[in-house]
Amino acid sequence: MYIRETTDADLNDILFVEREAFNSNKEAELTKDMLADPSAQPLVSLLAFVENQPAGHILFTKGQLANAKGKVSVSFLAPLAVVPRFQKQGIGGNLIKKGLELLSKSGVELVFVVGHPEYYPRYGFTPAGKLGFEPTYPIPEEVADAWMVQALHPDIIGSVSGKVICCDMLNKPEHWRE
Ligand SMILES: CC(C)(COP(=O)(O)OP(=O)(O)OC[C@H]1O[C@@H](n2cnc3c(N)ncnc32)[C@H](O)[C@@H]1OP(=O)(O)O)[C@@H](O)C(=O)NCCC(=O)NCCS
Repeated sequence: MYIRETTDADLNDILFVEREAFNSNKEAELTKDMLADPSAQPLVSLLAFVENQPAGHILFTKGQLANAKGKVSVSFLAPLAVVPRFQKQGIGGNLIKKGLELLSKSGVELVFVVGHPEYYPRYGFTPAGKLGFEPTYPIPEEVADAWMVQALHPDIIGSVSGKVICCDMLNKPEHWRE
């Protein structure tokens, strides 16, 4: 298995992975829109390959902390997708780790995700609401822990808080429902 950053030439492979993983065209369309969204830049888009077959994709897009625009560097993880026959082999985890490594090198301080609260804490994410971060759209109370954050800078948690705004293409209420 190897992981590399994507180029424009990888779009079909990315859309294939998204469709297979989610068994739907919705996330593929959203991913395509986000890749072309100027407000999502700079972004990190990675493909994982197994025997030269596209097996997994992860996308991190730029966000903003509303009351601290420009002062804190924020990114959103969405979506993460692994083709079903390649799942449970560590590909999702390796994509997360590689993405966080690249984001950290580029100076990103906070990474947010809305996802499975049993999955993302394995890779360093922790519930964000209790730390003072409000999601772009409200998350129902019963799934509040799905809203998670990971700090890539040691002193950042506790020093900033507020509403987190995602890129324009993700900034629609329908993308914030389960
Ligand atoms: C979630 C997903 C990306 C994980 O990819 P993966 O390559 O299988 O992940 P890893 O191999 O790193 O980790 C697999 C482990 O995560 C667990 N896991 C997978 N999905 C999970 C979920 N929804 N909730 C809790 N645990 C989950 C697996 O049971 C497995 O556990 P094990 O190691 O104890 O066997 C993949 O299952 C997928 O693409 N699912 C469909 C799309 C999706 O839901 N994306 C995430 C949106 S938040």
